[in-house]
Amino acid sequence: MVREVVIYPDKRLKQVSKEVEAFDAELHELLDDMYDTMIARNGVGLAAIQVGVDKRALIINIPLEDKEPEASQPRENTLEMINPVIIEADGKEKFQEGCLSVPGFYEDVERHKHVVVEYYDRFGKKHTIEDDDFLAIAMQHEIDHLDGRVFVERLSYIKRKKFEKEWKKRQKAS
Ligand code: CO
Repeated sequence: MVREVVIYPDKRLKQVSKEVEAFDAELHELLDDMYDTMIARNGVGLAAIQVGVDKRALIINIPLEDKEPEASQPRENTLEMINPVIIEADGKEKFQEGCLSVPGFYEDVERHKHVVVEYYDRFGKKHTIEDDDFLAIAMQHEIDHLDGRVFVERLSYIKRKKFEKEWKKRQKAS
């Protein structure tokens, strides 16, 4: 079921999400709804707080192929991560990002090029994943959401000011 997406600057996006303790049917329904919502909105990733649920769960729309050989993911085009933790990060990379909570706005953000992330799948099994490409950027963007951070908050002071001005204008117009 498609859920409503929380739009910036909604205060819920500032919440620090809580660790998932129960890998149960409610979590699975949340993940399934997040998938439906991401696909319906043509997103590449979504964190639970973006549908108003403050749980440390996120999904990323990416072909998994050799990334997730254990087939613990219900969909081969989507990585589900519960309670993810970045355990290693190095290098720098600038990449143009967007976000379903900031629709229609895209800007370059600097992040680590390479990350190693520990996480649990929907069944509570622990995994480690490593990437130095698009997935690395996407994981950092989505984990930021779990910590109450939206990508526009990583822009330089001047770009941020410009964005806030544009965004206010746009919200008034809509
Ligand atoms: Co986002």
